[in-house]
Amino acid sequence: MEPAVKNKTKSTEQTDNRLKFLNAALKKNLYQPDALIEILHTAQELFGYLSRETLEYITRELKLPPSKVYGVATFYNFFSLKPKGEHTCIVCMGTACYVKGAAELLSEMEKFLNIKAGETTPDGKVSIATARCIGTCGSAPAIIYDNQVAAYQTKETVIKKLKEWL
Ligand code: FES
Repeated sequence: MEPAVKNKTKSTEQTDNRLKFLNAALKKNLYQPDALIEILHTAQELFGYLSRETLEYITRELKLPPSKVYGVATFYNFFSLKPKGEHTCIVCMGTACYVKGAAELLSEMEKFLNIKAGETTPDGKVSIATARCIGTCGSAPAIIYDNQVAAYQTKETVIKKLKEWL
């Protein structure tokens, strides 16, 4: 599974609650193997792509043969098995973040990189994705930079981060 991220600096770093949300989705679907596609969708929305660890976790939790899970994940082209860019930026578009300006942050990012959400820069450096609530609503707007949740993001912090990567 993606590693849970601990608080580094109290002001901007938050614990990553995405695994908790994936578990909630599994529970909501009563761990039914039939819910595989829905669970894969949820996992991709939460993590931006389906890593090997994520697929193994889902395989275990749904008690399915790995070949079935991998088969479904590779069959549909809306599932992505690896991050497309060297760096991934996932903008939370859940209600709390949206209200605090997530859409403006996303548009700033898209303008700066000259790509849209779901795309990767032509040099393969940065991909932008969006997610629904990632579970740190108290520190909205939140963005996940390469698996690290950053809270209270502003146009300035977003651009600063992107500049570090380019
Ligand atoms: S809405 Fe963004 S963390 Fe909940």
